[in-house]
Amino acid sequence: MKLQLHFFLLLSAAVLFSSDAATRKLTALVKEQPLVLKYHNGNLLKGDYTFNILMYGNFTSVQKSILLDFIESLSPLNPPPSPSVSSWWAGTDAYSYGHKAKPTNTNVTFGLLFEMYGLSPSEKHLNSTALFDLEKNISGGKKSVGIVLTSSEVVVDGFCSSKCGTHGFLKKDKSDVPYVWVGNSAKQCPGHCAWPFHKPVYGPQTPPLLPPNGDVGIDGMIINLATLFAGTVTNPYGNGYFQGPKGGGLEAVSACAGVFGKGAYPGYPGQVLVDKSTGASYNAQGINGRKYLLPAMWDPKTYKCATLV
Ligand SMILES: *[C@@H]1O[C@H](CO)[C@@H](O)[C@H](O)[C@H]1NC(C)=O
Ligand SMILES: *[C@@H]1O[C@H](CO)[C@@H](O)[C@H](O)[C@H]1NC(C)=O
Ligand SMILES: *[C@@H]1O[C@H](CO)[C@@H](O)[C@H](O)[C@H]1NC(C)=O
Ligand SMILES: *[C@@H]1O[C@H](CO)[C@@H](O)[C@H](O)[C@H]1NC(C)=O
Repeated sequence: MKLQLHFFLLLSAAVLFSSDAATRKLTALVKEQPLVLKYHNGNLLKGDYTFNILMYGNFTSVQKSILLDFIESLSPLNPPPSPSVSSWWAGTDAYSYGHKAKPTNTNVTFGLLFEMYGLSPSEKHLNSTALFDLEKNISGGKKSVGIVLTSSEVVVDGFCSSKCGTHGFLKKDKSDVPYVWVGNSAKQCPGHCAWPFHKPVYGPQTPPLLPPNGDVGIDGMIINLATLFAGTVTNPYGNGYFQGPKGGGLEAVSACAGVFGKGAYPGYPGQVLVDKSTGASYNAQGINGRKYLLPAMWDPKTYKCATLV
């Protein structure tokens, strides 16, 4: 079994915040071009999909439930009132097979949960081959997505230096099966992969927001998971919706990087909701009373980055 395509998403603060005051002023003067993600005629993920999950490394039970509740909040039977994780996820419904096709849902069901902990020193380092092996091992075949989550002590090649996570696909039982990986950046690069809950490595320094679940690394993982899940549904095989070069292009959420609420600009995530009792920032409600901060998603109907609040 061979990896057919493995494209990395650059969720990089360096890119996000490279614009300085001068370029911002310039773009304010020039009428902004609409953002367009071109559809490349390939398949999207529509209908019912099962997500298999591997927690690789040391996750506390609280961390596990924050992550699993997020995934279960995407398509719950009884969604909480809007703004909710499921109303955010419904943004992917607008992506259809060309202009005439009717939008359809992508329903996520939680599948198997795998755990690997008590890792040896060599297991705490994953190169791309080892990560791919893990993805292949947890893959459920047709109509499934395999998700590997690595804990804060696990070093993955390219993590932090060029990416916070990836998505791609592999062949299993003659099917192309999408996969996602996201790492916990808390100890390695929170300014890079857990902004706006940590001060950014580059660019304008605004005070960090308090994370909705009180965990900078895990709440940062949610942002990257949301980004990669949306990319997986709208560009699962590298020929769906994206702008720019294949493999390095901007997708549904990465095209809106850094935007969480209205009035966002480089270094400022925008206006979001604040939990009065904890002071934490959020913009979406999940199951079990959870709150999350989710990134804006490009809307193919308005050609704009849509925010929940
Ligand atoms: C998604 O699930 C909902 C609720 O179970 C159902 O009404 C809907 O038809 C499903 N959509 C698809 C595309 O399977
Ligand atoms: C794993 O997590 C637990 C709980 O946070 C902690 O006590 C333990 O030291 C951690 N182990 C390693 C190897 O990081
Ligand atoms: C990853 O490590 C394994 C074992 O050390 C090695 O066989 C493999 O070639 C490595 N893969 C890459 C892409 O470096
Ligand atoms: C994946 O599964 C194969 C076959 O069961 C096993 O030999 C291998 O060790 C597994 N790889 C990982 C990284 O768990």
